[in-house]
Amino acid sequence: MITLGIESSCDDTSVALVEDGIRVVSSLVSSQVEIHQRFGGVVPEVASRKHLEAMLPLLQQAMGQAGVGISEIGQIAVTAGPGLLGPLLVGLSTAKALAWRYGLPLVPVNHLEAHLTASFLACHKHPRFPYVGLIVSGGHANLVLAEGPRRYTTLGRTADDAPGELYDKVARLLNLGYPGGPVIQKTGLTGDPKRYSLPRPMAGKGYGFSFSGLKTAVLHLVAQEGSRLSVPDLCASLQAAVADTLVGKAAAALKETGAGRLVMAGGVAANKPLREAMAALCERVRVEFLVPPPALCTDNAAMIAAQGYFTAATVDIDPLLVNGRADWPMGAPFPL
Ligand code: KG4
Ligand code: ZN
Repeated sequence: MITLGIESSCDDTSVALVEDGIRVVSSLVSSQVEIHQRFGGVVPEVASRKHLEAMLPLLQQAMGQAGVGISEIGQIAVTAGPGLLGPLLVGLSTAKALAWRYGLPLVPVNHLEAHLTASFLACHKHPRFPYVGLIVSGGHANLVLAEGPRRYTTLGRTADDAPGELYDKVARLLNLGYPGGPVIQKTGLTGDPKRYSLPRPMAGKGYGFSFSGLKTAVLHLVAQEGSRLSVPDLCASLQAAVADTLVGKAAAALKETGAGRLVMAGGVAANKPLREAMAALCERVRVEFLVPPPALCTDNAAMIAAQGYFTAATVDIDPLLVNGRADWPMGAPFPL
């Protein structure tokens, strides 16, 4: 069965066709990064308008490229949250209109849950439970125990900034551009990760995260070092601090839950030093490690289609009544 996935929760418009939840037939992403670049972050109202412009041409392109007609689509999956309300409404309205017009089942999808499912999609597997899930993106740092479709227990989340937000803010401070994560990774390639000693926020203090203190520490370091500052060393040291922090929390969660699998996802999961550190942890404690390739780490509709496929049976409301929700916790009831 082919699921049409639609994603518009932030600054990427994306449409995908996924067969049986595990095979990507077509996946297109229209990025708005160049528009938001000049503001150093996403401007919600601008994002909504751009989604509106991009959505229908992208849909036609995805179906045209795959040679798939509407009659071959079995259901529609759409992001209902969490995300920016205006952008979410563009995707939701499109999906509802199509579902109503063509009489197709509609599955509202939680964006964070879908990020984790991307790891299974990447290796053409059905999700396997239980697992410890770590979502690290521009808006989130969530550590969860996943025990079934839409069954998550949140172990910890960030009290302030998300790691992607930290990278975006530090990149802005260093005049490196936007988004920060990829450029910090690139700049740090030639840097020494041990050169600057940065804090490991909340290490050993439960599962919660906090990244705003790390941003303050970077600010102080930049002011203190002045013209002596090595930007590559700072980028490498910052990525090491983030990776150490996340690895520490993931290790504790794996130990306490006894789960045999760690799934990492979200835009920041594209980060190479973090992937390497997490892979090393999993090898050390002998658990399976799943992380999508970078293109499936950042926002995409293929993960929405996959999550929709595996959670269709949990839809217990009229999906045409579902509303966009800026904050929709993983596993919580569908937002009306
Ligand atoms: O998941 P995502 O595409 O959007 C959200 O739902 O937030 O994540 C975007 C975030 C941005 O903050 C970006 O700087 C970060 O992911 N990011 C990275 C890398 N690629 C994207 N951070 C670190 N290293 C990367 N290679
Ligand atoms: Zn995301």
